[in-house]
Parts: sequence; C-alpha cells; structure tokens
Amino acid sequence: MCGIVGFIGNEPVYEKIIKGLSRLEYRGYDSAGLAVIENNELLVRKCKGKVADLQNNVGSQVLGSTIGIGHTRWATHGVPNDVNAHPHFGENKNIALIHNGIIENYASLKEALIGRGHHFVSETDTEVLVHFIEDIRDSEQVSLFEAVRMALTEVVGAYAIVVLDQSNPDELIVAKKSSPLVIGIGSNDDYYIASDATPIIEYTKNVVYLNDEEVAKLNRREGLTIVNIQNQKQTPYIQELELKLEAIEKGGYDSFMLKEIHEQPRSIQDSFRGRLNLKQGVVKMSGIDDHEERWKNAGRIVVVACGTSWHAGLVAEYLFEDFARIPVEVEYASEFRYRNPVLFTDDIVIAISQSGETADTLAAIELAKEKGAFIFGVCNVVGSTISRATHSGAYTHAGPEIGVASTKAFTAQVTVLFQMALALAEKRGTLSSGRLSRLVAELNSLPIKITEVLKTNEQVEQIAQIYKNRSNALYLGRGYSFPVALEGALKLKEISYIHAEGYPAAEMKHGPIALIDENMPVIVIATEGASYEKVVSNIQEVKARKGQIIAIVTEGDKTVKAMADHVIEIPRTDDSLVPILSAVPLQLFSYHVAIMRGCNVDQPRNLAKSVTVE
Ligand code: G6P
Repeated sequence: MCGIVGFIGNEPVYEKIIKGLSRLEYRGYDSAGLAVIENNELLVRKCKGKVADLQNNVGSQVLGSTIGIGHTRWATHGVPNDVNAHPHFGENKNIALIHNGIIENYASLKEALIGRGHHFVSETDTEVLVHFIEDIRDSEQVSLFEAVRMALTEVVGAYAIVVLDQSNPDELIVAKKSSPLVIGIGSNDDYYIASDATPIIEYTKNVVYLNDEEVAKLNRREGLTIVNIQNQKQTPYIQELELKLEAIEKGGYDSFMLKEIHEQPRSIQDSFRGRLNLKQGVVKMSGIDDHEERWKNAGRIVVVACGTSWHAGLVAEYLFEDFARIPVEVEYASEFRYRNPVLFTDDIVIAISQSGETADTLAAIELAKEKGAFIFGVCNVVGSTISRATHSGAYTHAGPEIGVASTKAFTAQVTVLFQMALALAEKRGTLSSGRLSRLVAELNSLPIKITEVLKTNEQVEQIAQIYKNRSNALYLGRGYSFPVALEGALKLKEISYIHAEGYPAAEMKHGPIALIDENMPVIVIATEGASYEKVVSNIQEVKARKGQIIAIVTEGDKTVKAMADHVIEIPRTDDSLVPILSAVPLQLFSYHVAIMRGCNVDQPRNLAKSVTVE
C-alpha cells in the first residue's frame, strides 16, 4: 500500500527512482511522483496514473541529481489526482516528504496548523505531516532530523516516511512505524531506501530494516545515524539479503502472474524443502518443535488472516481438525479485532500473511498478544513486520510474489499448513504412522503433479474463450474443495472484474440455484473423495436448470465427464492435497479470461498487494 524509495550517493538517482518505483508498483498505482534536488532547487514531478505516466511527465529532462525520493500511491485520503499525489511540501515549498501509511490524528493537527498560518492544497494526511515537521523545525529552531523525531512523538497512526530538504542536499531523513522500510548500504557511501528490498537488491545486499518508532539520518559525510523516538541512539543491525534479482523479474513471461502460476512446482518444493523426512515418514518444523508442549496441549487454534490468506486458513481448518483433532476457528482479521474475542490460555493463534504487512492481521496479532495468546506466523516475506511480531512461525518460501492476485503464495501457504497439521498429528498421536508416511510421500510428489496440471493451460485458455464475456460465475466445492471454490471466485473477481461467488456445493440449493440459467457458468471442483457422489448430484441439479458446468475432476473420471460441458483433469492425490492441485486451473482460468478482456492482470484496478491500512 504505497511504495516509497529514496536514494543518496554519488551517482544520478533519476533512473534508480523510476526503476525502484516500477518494482514497487504492486503496492499501489493510483499516482506516482518524485522529488530531486537539481541545481540547488527542489524539483518535483507528480501525476495521477502509473510510473510510466510519471516518466512521460518528466519527459526528456536530464536529471543529474544524486539525491531524490519517489512514491507510488494507493489512495487513502483524497482521490487519486495530481494534487493528492506524493511528494507533498511544507508551507515554504522547500521540504518534500513521501509517506506510506495513515496519520490518524491529521484532522486535529491540520486545524492547529491552519491556526498557525499554514495553507493546504491537498486532501491528504501526508501534507499535514510535512507542514507539522516544518512548523516544529522553524519554531523550535532544530535540525530537520530532530524536527521529524519531535513531530512523530505527537503523531498517531502508521508511517514510513522519507524527507528531503532543499537547503540540505547532503541528507535524507527516514522514519517508520507499522509500515515497512528498508535501508540499503552501498559500497561507495551510497544509501538506498525502499518499502521492500526489491528496488535495492541490484545495488547492494547489505540492508538495515528500520524498527518501529526509529528515525534515521542518511548523511553524505556522517553516514547512517539512527535514534528511537525517545532520542536514544540505536546501533544499526546490518543484514545480508538472500533475495535474487531474477526472482523479481518477469523471466520471459508476459506478466508476473503467469510467471508465478508456472513457478508453483518449484515454490511448493521450496516450501517443504528440508522439512520432510521421507524415510521416517514425518515432518519436521522447528516452529512446532521449539514449542512442543504448547502445541501438544493446544485446546484450540484460531486463524487470523485476510483475502487469499484467509482462504488458506479455511483449508487449514479442515487439515488441523482432520489430522490433529484440534478445534479450529478461522477469522477475518478485521472482524476479529473489532469484536471482543474470547481467547483461552491454551489457544494458539496462527496469523497467515503473504506480505507479512497486512494492517488488519497485524492489529489482530496485537490484540491476541494483549490477551496473552501464543502467536504463530505463516508468512512469505522474510523479515516482514508480522514475521517479527509473532512468537514463532514458519516461512512459506514461495519467493517474491509480485502479481497483485495471489497464486503461488496460496499454494505455498496450504503446503506449510499441511505440514504443520502432519507434524501436530504425529506429536498428538492422532494419525497412524502408515497414514502419516503416505501423506508425507504424497506431498513430496506434488511438484510433479503440479507440472502435469500446468499442461492443461491451453485447454483452460480455450474454455476461457467461451466464457470470457459472461457477467457472473458460480464456484462450487465441498469439504477440502470449498475454500478453493472461494479462492477461484476471488481470483476471477480480482483480475477480470466478473462478478463471481464461491459456495459450498450443497448450499447452492439454499439460494444461488435461483441464479442458474443458460448464461451462468458453474465451476465445480468434483474430484474423487469423500463428497464426490454428493457433488455429482449438485452438478445434475445445475444441469437440470441449463447451467453450464466446468468441472475439475480426477484424471480418468467418467461420471462427471458424461454430464459436464467441460472437464479439466488433475492427477489423483489425497483429498487433503486436492486444494493445492485444483487451485492451479482456476488461477489459469482467471488469468486467461482477464487477458482476453484486456485487463492488467498484475495490477488490477483499485487493488494493492500489501494492504497496510485498516
Ligand atoms: C490483498 C492482496 C491479496 C492478499 C490480501 C492479504 O488484498 O491483494 O492477494 O490475499 O491482501 O494479504 P497478505 O499479504 O496478508 O496475505
């Protein structure tokens, strides 16, 4: 949700800003802007639209500046337009600031500043913050570094900010609370700032993740200085990035989404690499082993998550209850925190988040912590806020996911949750060793099976061609396939803007059946397993009302094939692992429909990948 970059060093920064913003565009693409100090003057360019629009806006001006900041916005306060785009300035137009987050008490600050003679041109909370900093600097006669620190002691909300002052072209000031911010340290006194490491990786691997309520000064002569909000000096902890440049590039694919869908055989393998012991037929997860007694005696698991991660949480409910016999509740993080949820001392809260930055999930974690719960994180982004806020956890290791609609992160989340359920089942003695071994072996064979599923791509594309202009779609599944029906519908909505709903197949007759006619495509996950016969009956009910059936079936299936309009076959696997296989053709279907409708699959309208506002 908003991407920010900043560079200060010995080389021109313009290209770096543009490239960095393009890498962060998945975080928001309502507007883009930059500020540099060019010939001792603050030069600001900003506009509604994407980074490419900003580039056009800058035109052929050669920017030689060696200090600058850039921003790509997902609008919160104020519509996306040129005026509301970042950077914003103070009253005297000599301080520029970019911001990711929300200043909750901006209205009262604004009122006080207006009383002190400040004028505002935008509707944003960010403009208030830069005026506030400027006001403190000028009235208290302190440095910009000190003024930022003082201002932030009075700010309520979330922020990652970078501040640039025309009168000091040798320095950038940064600060963060609840929104991510990374500082890269180059070899030649160059510094790089970004919301995540992707704009930094091609320049340096040495980074410092700023902690909440820390303020840093990056000065050409003095280097890096960090203080906390109480003005105590902090020692920077320099880490080495493991991220590889190839991982954040399209690698020959037309879109990140298609690349990420095709990466799934590898990303799934990576999410169980080093965790499966095939000989003994067990799963080893340090996050569970390190807290063995707690897990063994857990009375209940409460999952908190949003979006696709919430769907992975629903699969986990089936897995944990089925294998480990622990009762599970799956909560939208945003609802959980606004109830007065009951948590017991033997509850374990699992927070699932690809980005590890989702504000609602983070807030749910904080609430659960206050109530004394033990929190386990399932995150993809290493070092992310949620991964650091939890007591223990397991990374999904899917690699960077850049397409806004989640694909490989979902299957990796389910893979990790599956392993957790097996590890718990072993510890709690709820599965026979034979069944455990078979499940471990089956998981190990999944990458090959996903490769098989990906071969359905062309067939799925042909089906998409037939249905691309429909206005609605219904997704049905039962048992383990119900969460996949929800996830399939979400994918179609997100990237093709077709209204789609996921339903438990049997619930169809309690409402959605009224919608079925010859124009309604019904996508059914009808693989062999516990509820196969029942789903076959649901398919008949749809056909009786002239609905069109696209069915995901187990290879060799004859029954469904005889009644469905289209079938997509996936390899046979255990019922509990079907979600990982069946999600893939649904991802491909959404992808092809969206492409055929001319949609931008990587940056669907109004969405952002990392939702750092509540
Ligand atoms: C946004 C993204 C979704 C994601 C959700 C939760 O809505 O577009 O793809 O599932 O946030 O994000 P998280 O990073 O917490 O998994």
